[in-house]
Amino acid sequence: MASSRERSTPAKQLPDFDLVLFGGTGDLAMRKLLPALFRRYLAGQFPAHARIVGVARSGIERDDYLAQVEASSKKYLPAGLDAMRWTAFSRSLDYACLDATNASDYQKLAAKLANNPAAVRVFFLSTAPALFQIICQNLAAAGLVTAAARVVLEKPLGQDRASADNINQNVGAIFPERQIYRIDHYLGKEAVQNLLALRFGNSLFEPLWRRGRVRHVQITVAEELGVEGRGAFYDQTGALRDMVQNHLLQLLCIMAMEPPVSNHPDAVRDEKLKVLRALKPLLGADVDANVVRGQYRAGAVNGVPVAGYLEEEGIAPDSTTETFVAIKAHIDTWRWAGVPFYLRTGKRMQEQIAEIVIHFEDVPHSIFERVASAGANRLVISLQPRDSITLTILAKNPGETMRLRPVDLRLDMAESVKTPQLDAYERLLTDVIKGNLTLFMRRDELDAAWRWIDPLREAWMQSDERPKSYTAGSWGPAAASSLIGKDGYVWHGET
Ligand code: BG6
Repeated sequence: MASSRERSTPAKQLPDFDLVLFGGTGDLAMRKLLPALFRRYLAGQFPAHARIVGVARSGIERDDYLAQVEASSKKYLPAGLDAMRWTAFSRSLDYACLDATNASDYQKLAAKLANNPAAVRVFFLSTAPALFQIICQNLAAAGLVTAAARVVLEKPLGQDRASADNINQNVGAIFPERQIYRIDHYLGKEAVQNLLALRFGNSLFEPLWRRGRVRHVQITVAEELGVEGRGAFYDQTGALRDMVQNHLLQLLCIMAMEPPVSNHPDAVRDEKLKVLRALKPLLGADVDANVVRGQYRAGAVNGVPVAGYLEEEGIAPDSTTETFVAIKAHIDTWRWAGVPFYLRTGKRMQEQIAEIVIHFEDVPHSIFERVASAGANRLVISLQPRDSITLTILAKNPGETMRLRPVDLRLDMAESVKTPQLDAYERLLTDVIKGNLTLFMRRDELDAAWRWIDPLREAWMQSDERPKSYTAGSWGPAAASSLIGKDGYVWHGET
């Protein structure tokens, strides 16, 4: 039975849809996508004829597939699985054994989808990007690309600007841009949308959101996890391409963009694009001075000993792949000229956090006894582990003397807003079905992000230096502390 919290937000039913999940037995499908769909089913959003077709190469029966999905949903849904509701949900689940590269196999899919040609058709490609082109071509050849069809592309979208462009061209030859949904799951996080609400729903912050008022900004996505069985993929990718090119730059865009004229998808994406295009290029020697790359060695996370990166499965013994990156970036616009944006991400860090920290200027002249004001005049927008906003201000310390000290004004969304939150993939999957592109990356955004990232990798490739070593369970290499320290700042949370 739905709790009173759930009843307070009746979800609107989705239009009739068929969702075809390429990579249907893969990790993302099992861990995130199918559990997310089940939750939307529980919320009453599924129309009567909704169907989900998992597609993969293994020749298993539908029942085996359902058993796999049930087992993983049990594992990954925090509230567990209600058997009756699961059975009802599973009626909308189907499986097709299909070799993505074999055009004739797509007839099986066509036969399954034939009875509802007018439904929204979502083709979610959770496969290696090398398959995107052939899948799209085969879908088109089988007559499956209708006007109501959408293709969803999971990252990584390329290895660099040229390969991303190639993918975009090939997919774009079959699907028009308005039918292409490039996922960055960070944009689906409630806290990111809340940042849009904070900035553009209130007049309070806008006058402060600029140079002269903001001294510097930090964006951190730190993970306790290591490469978690994805060694072979990760070693070819590294933190810059796995996290910075997409998640961190998208957070930067939401933080720094100008107010869009409306919430129309292109109005929002136009403004994000301007931020990416205004990022000051880091070339050659600038990379050494403004970018730190690191790689973890053995250490302990939460008191549990963990192996170093080079000892993980699937990693080349002499790998120079970075598991940590810190960057000092600048946005060359009237609003942000001269304000440093420090970006930092890493695996096997001390804590699991994702946050944007905005440090405002101190008062120009203090009439009070000197206090350590470090940490005050600061806004922390936390995405993980909790969705919260904390404004730290200076207030009077109780007592006889007029001494100030930092105090927190804290909004914890889970406590304050008694409505269950949507997981990022729940939000993004329903947006695809509804046809809302706002939280998906447009082709030109992706291109601009790669254009800024590529020279960083090129500089590393030309250098003989190895990534700086850091102990697993720390905050990264000492050089990352110096990067911000030489400007007189410290990373939030790092003591
Ligand atoms: C993915 C990366 O895009 O994001 C992973 O490929 C990373 O390496 C993950 O662990 C982090 O996402 P979240 O939502 O757990 O912070």
